[in-house]
Amino acid sequence: MYPDRKLTHVLPGRIPLIQSPTPLHRLGAMSKQLGIDLWIKRDDLTGFALGGNKGRKLEYLMADILASQAKVVVTCGAAQSNFIRQLSAACRMLDLRCAAAVMNMPYEDAEPETLVHGSGGNLVLNDILGTDLRFHANGTWEELYDLAEQLALEYEAQGKTVYRMPIGGSSPLGAYAFVEAAKELDQTFDAIIFASSSGSTHTGLAVAFAGSQTRILGIACDPEPEIAQDFAELAKGLKQYLPDIPDILADDYDLDFSFVGPGYGIPSEAGTAAIKRLGCSEGIFLDPIYSGKAFAGLIDLAEKGELTGRVLFWHTGGIPALFAY
Ligand SMILES: Cc1ncc(COP(=O)(O)O)c(C=O)c1O
Repeated sequence: MYPDRKLTHVLPGRIPLIQSPTPLHRLGAMSKQLGIDLWIKRDDLTGFALGGNKGRKLEYLMADILASQAKVVVTCGAAQSNFIRQLSAACRMLDLRCAAAVMNMPYEDAEPETLVHGSGGNLVLNDILGTDLRFHANGTWEELYDLAEQLALEYEAQGKTVYRMPIGGSSPLGAYAFVEAAKELDQTFDAIIFASSSGSTHTGLAVAFAGSQTRILGIACDPEPEIAQDFAELAKGLKQYLPDIPDILADDYDLDFSFVGPGYGIPSEAGTAAIKRLGCSEGIFLDPIYSGKAFAGLIDLAEKGELTGRVLFWHTGGIPALFAY
């Protein structure tokens, strides 16, 4: 249950996009298999643009874009980004242009490769939505951010007002959405476990449950431990909406890097096994890059006796990517 505490709010604008509260239910078969009381929060079923945790963030981010008067939203990400798909849908609904610089696999130490134009999964949906996707050969995150900036400048040179959207929608507003999401829980959990990458899901939940008995455990899908520093910056930025929240520093984040597998954006063996296990046990699908790896972490920790009691798996979506790998 959301801790019963009154926080001072400076309310940001919000445009409703998702069907909330998303379903929350028990996983009977998996509870039995793992010897824990396992529940699931179904953000794969937001009812918006094929679901996923980004719909929540976009409710606040789209209001901010409209307030900025921008006509074009520029972002970046992996070619199979779930965020870009949901952002594109929201932009179309509000008559805004969505443009993104993408790489098949952006990461530090990425092997430079010749450009491969991917297909399937989220790219099919971006095609339907008419997203201005600019494909680039693999490179580092810094290179990808620079390419997004060049794209923004290109639109500005045409006289368009541009909103620069951070990767994954991870601005303090994105984190705010997950402080609010926590209020949808009507019971107490010993642990909440989920896929963590650009950090606003993790930051929002960490802030919502700060000082409570509930363990907020992110399973990292990105192999770089420095990301916790970015998460701490998000928590600092959240104070503009929630001035009384405690400080959350990089070391305060409970982030487990053991389940990334071969790298960001590359399916792992354990993740693939977890997808099969949940699909066959409960009829619920996960994705290979985020939620599958997170569920692999949950299985492993429960089997080792490191996750006990009543546990909530927060399903963050990503299903379209299943059809891309
Ligand atoms: C399916 C899915 N799960 C989890 C995440 C991670 O969420 P966050 O970026 O808020 O850390 C993402 C983000 O890309 C995602 O697409």
